[in-house]
Amino acid sequence: MKLLHSARNSNPYKKSCYKLFKYALWLSISLYFLSSFLITRHTTTISTTTISRSKPSRALMAENPHLDSSAHGKFNGMRIYVYDLPPQFNSDWLKNERCSRHLFAAEVAIHRALLSSEVRTFDPWQADLFFVPVYVSCNFSEVNGFPAIGHARALIASAIQYLSSDLPFWNRSRGSDHVFVASHDFGSCFHSMEDMAISEGIPEFLRNSIILQTFGVKDKHPCQEVENVVVPPYISPESVATTLEASPVTGHRDIFAFFRGKMEVHPKNVSGRYYSKRVRTTILRRYGNDRRFYLRRHRFAGYQSEIARSKFCLCPLGWAPWSPRLVESVALGCVPVIIADGIRLPFPSAVPWAEISLTVAEADVGKLGGILAHVAETNLTAIQRNLGDPRVRKALLFDDTVSEGDATWQVLIALSGKLDRSHRG
Ligand SMILES: *[C@@H]1O[C@H](CO)[C@@H](O)[C@H](O)[C@H]1NC(C)=O
Ligand SMILES: *[C@@H]1O[C@H](CO)[C@@H](O)[C@H](O)[C@H]1NC(C)=O
Ligand SMILES: *[C@@H]1O[C@H](CO)[C@@H](O)[C@H](O)[C@H]1NC(C)=O
Ligand SMILES: *[C@@H]1O[C@H](CO)[C@@H](O)[C@H](O)[C@H]1NC(C)=O
Repeated sequence: MKLLHSARNSNPYKKSCYKLFKYALWLSISLYFLSSFLITRHTTTISTTTISRSKPSRALMAENPHLDSSAHGKFNGMRIYVYDLPPQFNSDWLKNERCSRHLFAAEVAIHRALLSSEVRTFDPWQADLFFVPVYVSCNFSEVNGFPAIGHARALIASAIQYLSSDLPFWNRSRGSDHVFVASHDFGSCFHSMEDMAISEGIPEFLRNSIILQTFGVKDKHPCQEVENVVVPPYISPESVATTLEASPVTGHRDIFAFFRGKMEVHPKNVSGRYYSKRVRTTILRRYGNDRRFYLRRHRFAGYQSEIARSKFCLCPLGWAPWSPRLVESVALGCVPVIIADGIRLPFPSAVPWAEISLTVAEADVGKLGGILAHVAETNLTAIQRNLGDPRVRKALLFDDTVSEGDATWQVLIALSGKLDRSHRG
């Protein structure tokens, strides 16, 4: 699972407009950070000296609805304090425009959405949960362009050092009411290779906290032995909207089964493991010459339009079980064919995965042709109808500001089920 596609616009005019837009966005975010920095510092000072220690009880607030009008009820009245960290932990990384758009960008998107969210409180004494905004996936390698995450543990450790030396909240709970995002391959293990991820494990300092991570499997796994919520990989909602303008969800689909991405003809044995457990190799060998299958191994900026033209979109595992294709297929109305045994999918209460996708066991990948032909003859239309529900698409995309039903909204619902960790009483 790597950055297989970088959605770039080849039209130079559009590209410069886009750059300008990006710059304006970056500028406004920076200003936002600056102003929220000033405001937060201000309220923190006030609250620690005057009103802070008198924590109003939940019961009192329930009696007096005026105290807690906006957020009460929704998300169980949850309030989240967003730490204001120095820019080297987050906003500095946004200088690279890929940081807020690539497939690990949920760490940026969730932070951004929380800043303007109604669950946000500027008073940490009023908070149930504490969000720690560290962007660890934006150190792109100059060699291959992939995010290097070797620095992730140290960066997070120093963020914790920073926030715990000054404010009492981390020490008070040993981090159990603190929330982090780990949006790359093996989530809170911070490594892209499973064996290394497992041997390094989840850093000691994060083990009490809540981790929002893209990685999830149904069985026990060392990289999810922490309170966690599975979140979808980041796909830019604007890119999806642009693709859908050209090819609507209900449009004609001339491709039967689609896959574009890394498919190794002879996968290397990397410390006893093969890329994609050789599933992708089997797909290529078995269906490379089958005219129903549209299989491509190279990057192509317009790949989203291919998804929009397809009936079935193959989502085989890479190194990790999850893949951005899951989100792109759903968003563009192509039935995801999930080939990743034991994967735990995001937001099962909002996304009825069994009704909108197909699951094929890794061992059955050689029978894919027959399985898909059978579904096409029987229930494909029913699955497509379920997939057409706009709420499903919405749940997997992170809007810039939290909106009802979007991915950050789903994160907030999940977090509001963990308020037993709150100190607010
Ligand atoms: C980014 O990653 C490289 C390794 O690829 C590392 O040498 C460097 O220190 C990292 N940068 C930061 C700011 O952590
Ligand atoms: C929290 O604990 C650390 C390590 O024990 C300590 O250095 C730090 O001063 C404590 N923070 C506060 C605000 O007391
Ligand atoms: C793959 O490599 C490991 C050593 O890294 C070796 O023990 C194992 O037998 C190899 N597997 C195969 C199928 O060649
Ligand atoms: C469609 O049919 C397949 C295979 O017959 C089955 O596994 C799947 O659950 C069905 N899906 C729906 C939504 O009916």
